Amino acid sequence: MSESHANFIDLNDYPVEWWNNLLALAHDIMQNPADYAQVCKGKIMATLFYEPSTRTQMSFQTAMLRLGGNIIGFDNPSSSSVSKGENLKDTTKIVSSYADVLVIRHPLAGSAKAAALSADCPVINAGDGGHLHPTQTLTDLLTLKELKGTLEGLTIGFCGDLKNGRTVHSLLKAMKCYPKNRFVLISTKELGIPAYLRDMLHAAGAQFAEMQSLEEAIGTLDVLYMTRIQRERFSSEMEYLRQKDVYVLDHAKMLRAKSDLVVLHPLPRVDEISTEVDEDPRAVYFQQAKFGVYIRMALIKTLLDANAAAPALLPGRTVPGAVCSNEKCITNSEHYLPKSFAGLGDILECDYCDERTLM
Ligand code: NCD
Repeated sequence: MSESHANFIDLNDYPVEWWNNLLALAHDIMQNPADYAQVCKGKIMATLFYEPSTRTQMSFQTAMLRLGGNIIGFDNPSSSSVSKGENLKDTTKIVSSYADVLVIRHPLAGSAKAAALSADCPVINAGDGGHLHPTQTLTDLLTLKELKGTLEGLTIGFCGDLKNGRTVHSLLKAMKCYPKNRFVLISTKELGIPAYLRDMLHAAGAQFAEMQSLEEAIGTLDVLYMTRIQRERFSSEMEYLRQKDVYVLDHAKMLRAKSDLVVLHPLPRVDEISTEVDEDPRAVYFQQAKFGVYIRMALIKTLLDANAAAPALLPGRTVPGAVCSNEKCITNSEHYLPKSFAGLGDILECDYCDERTLM
C-alpha cells in the first residue's frame, strides 16, 4: 500500500488556501501560457477512463500536452486487460509504474481512492461513480472566480439530479467552505442530495433550502448550476423516464432571473437547458469547459511538484464484520480492499464512498 503521493481524491482533503493557490496559478497560466509550456517536459500522464467522457478526459490530455508532457491511457476498458478480468489494483499498480501521474474515472464510488492505495504515483479522481468529481469543482471555482470575481456571499442554485450528480456533491462540499454562501437545492423529492451531504451542510452551519420549483427559485440566484439527470445511475429505465424533463431552463425562465446571474453546467447537456439559452450572455457553460484546461494544468503541475506527504487515504478504522451498505461502493466489488470506516457508535461512514452503514 502506498500513501506517500500527493493524490487528489477529494478537494476537501486539502485546505482552502491550497485551492486558492491553484486558482491563482491557473489564472497566471491563462495570462502567461508560454512560461508553462515546458514545465512537465519528460513526464507522462496516464488516463484510465472506465466510463465515457469528452471534456474531462480531453481537457486533462490537453492540459498535460500544453505543459510539455506526454499522455498514455485508455478510454474504453474493453480494449484493455480489464476485459480479461483484471482488477483495479493490478491495472493501477502497473500503469502507475509507467506514468508520473494517473487520472482515473470509474463507475463505482470510492474507486479513485482504491486506485491510490496501490498506485506508485499521484492519482487524480476524474469522477468516481455518483460520489465526487473534484476536478470539475476546481473548474467551477475557477469559472466563478474569473466571471463573478468572488467565491463568497453567493446564492447558488443547484438544479436537477442532486442525488446522483457527483459534480453537485463536490461543488457543495467546496462552496460551504467559503463564507456567506447560500444554497438553494432544486430537485424532485426522489433526486435530493444524499443524507450524508445534508448532515455535512448542517454540521458546517451552511444556509440551505430544498425546493421543487425552478421558476420560484431562479429570481433569487447569483449562480444557477444546472445538471443532467444521470440516466446511467438509475436502477430502472422507467424511473429515469419519470424524472427526465422535469426541469428545463428556457428563455421564459431566464426572464425571471437577475441580470448578473451566471448559468453553469458541467456538461454534457441533454434537454435540461434549451439551446435558445446559449445566446444569453448569462449562459457561461461553454466558457466553463474551457477554464477546465487551465485549472487541470495548475493541478498537474502542483501534484508533480509536491514533495509533501499526502493526506491519509484511510483515516478511519476497521470494524470486524462491517461491510459498506452502498452496493455501488468499490469495496463491494473489489473484495481485497481493506474496509475502513469513520464514525462512532452504530453508524459507520465508509472511508471510500461516505455512505452510512448501520451496524
Ligand atoms: C459530468 C460527470 O461526468 O459527472 N461531466 C463532466 O465531467 N463534465 C456531468 C455529467 O455527466 O452529467
